[in-house]
Amino acid sequence: MNRCMLFYLIFLSIITLSCNTSNSTEKLFNERHRPQVHFSPAGNWMNDPNGLVFFEGEYHLFYQYYPDAKVWGPMHWGHAISTDLVHWQHLPIALYPDSLGYIFSGSAVIDYKNTSGLGKPEKPAMIAIYCYHSPVLEKAGKNNFQTQGMAFSLDKGRTWTKYSGNPIVPNLGIRDFRDPKVSWNGEINKWIMTLAAGDCVRFYSSDDLKKWSFESEFGKTFGAHGGVWECPDLIKMPVKGSNGESKWVLLVSINPGGPNGGSATQYFTGNFDGHQFTVDNEKIRWIDTGKDNYAGVTFSGIPENDGRFILIGWMSNWQYATNVPTSPWRSAMTFPRQMTLVREEGEYALISNPVEEIEQLRERKVTISQFIASKKKDLTKEVPFGLATIEIIADFSLPQSGTTSEFGFNLSNSKGENIEIGYNCQTKKFLINRINTGDSEFSRDFKGIHYSDEAVPGKTISMHLIVDVASVELFGQSGKIVMTDIFFPNEVFNNLSVYSKVGSVECKSVTLYKLNNIWNH
Ligand code: FRU
Repeated sequence: MNRCMLFYLIFLSIITLSCNTSNSTEKLFNERHRPQVHFSPAGNWMNDPNGLVFFEGEYHLFYQYYPDAKVWGPMHWGHAISTDLVHWQHLPIALYPDSLGYIFSGSAVIDYKNTSGLGKPEKPAMIAIYCYHSPVLEKAGKNNFQTQGMAFSLDKGRTWTKYSGNPIVPNLGIRDFRDPKVSWNGEINKWIMTLAAGDCVRFYSSDDLKKWSFESEFGKTFGAHGGVWECPDLIKMPVKGSNGESKWVLLVSINPGGPNGGSATQYFTGNFDGHQFTVDNEKIRWIDTGKDNYAGVTFSGIPENDGRFILIGWMSNWQYATNVPTSPWRSAMTFPRQMTLVREEGEYALISNPVEEIEQLRERKVTISQFIASKKKDLTKEVPFGLATIEIIADFSLPQSGTTSEFGFNLSNSKGENIEIGYNCQTKKFLINRINTGDSEFSRDFKGIHYSDEAVPGKTISMHLIVDVASVELFGQSGKIVMTDIFFPNEVFNNLSVYSKVGSVECKSVTLYKLNNIWNH
């Protein structure tokens, strides 16, 4: 082959290669059911968010990942970063299984004071504290197959070294002993680890992240107990609108036993004195009463001048997560949410709303002013863009009693499939009806109408929705009610209407935004 020919061939292959790559990237994030504004892995299995931490301008999202198949398997920590919480960049796998076991869920902190000695004061270490799950000990019939381990990174999470003294918290015989969430407690100048242990949580303290002392246990006689407790998080939150009051909030995921079946996340408000958590009351509360928000925890390392509590959850449910009809990946994360603690009628409650960074994704806007909907008011023609990935913000005025029994939004396609996101005027509860949303054969537990747990009476009902191809997140009454559901239509939902059962409802205004895809930037 002469030189010319060789150069020509090299040139041709470069062109073909780059065409292929761009085609495949495009195809990769445009598959059927692929979320456009929610984080998902390019391929294969994902579950819980792990190690959520902000450091030097980057939000880190690690996650339970099995890189070899679309079903749960030996767990790794996948990794992605974002500078704005909405656009994510996939990075190589951060943590691989080793001789101590698979890498289950956990958290990450920045050791600014170099308490561990693993970094340098001018170069703090990013430290991941996670659960080791030993399949060997499990198979051998032992009860102590879950222990806690630690790894550190000195290059902003890009490469990791496992700590030589692992495990840092041995297991004395509790079968479910996992998901350490670590945070710095400035009141006692120690690290506190909150760990799920069967049907309760355990608190441990440490000066250096390496040696841990057991402090106390909480929860055996409080909260929901329909399943095992997992992925806890303990945070101290200011009470909105108060005069400097703060409360401790404990998040605990539970599987099964959620309010609409399967997995869900409950929370407790109370006090933590550095040793023990005492709860305010016996009420069972959920951060989200849809079916698809699990294992959510908050970011650590958020700068004080920001001060937000930002939660990301796994947008699926163990009842059917391994069977959902997506390919080549499985599962997405919820949209990041800002959680706020409020006090109303003597009780503390969490409210959640999409982080304000969502505004960066708003590409086009339509506002539809006041109208009355009786039975059905079609809005499709008033929206000059596709409806697959949109944000809807609406206020409804409740009719006098006796008119409408239920109203809300209906998204549908030409195959007769649809989803309803509404409010029932009799029960005063929000709901998502996914009985007829398309593919649901993969699980008996999928179809259904899901209701918010609490009645929310009011003259005005507000709904803020993020609809993203195969999911909807509902923030009702400014985030007091949150519901997340996934769905799998056989054709994109491209029709939108306001429905009203029995009588009519007044819609005061609807604002719709087309949201930009987060991957093409
Ligand atoms: C929650 C969970 C965790 C565990 C991880 C394993 O979804 O069961 O308790 O660490 O998933 O992937």
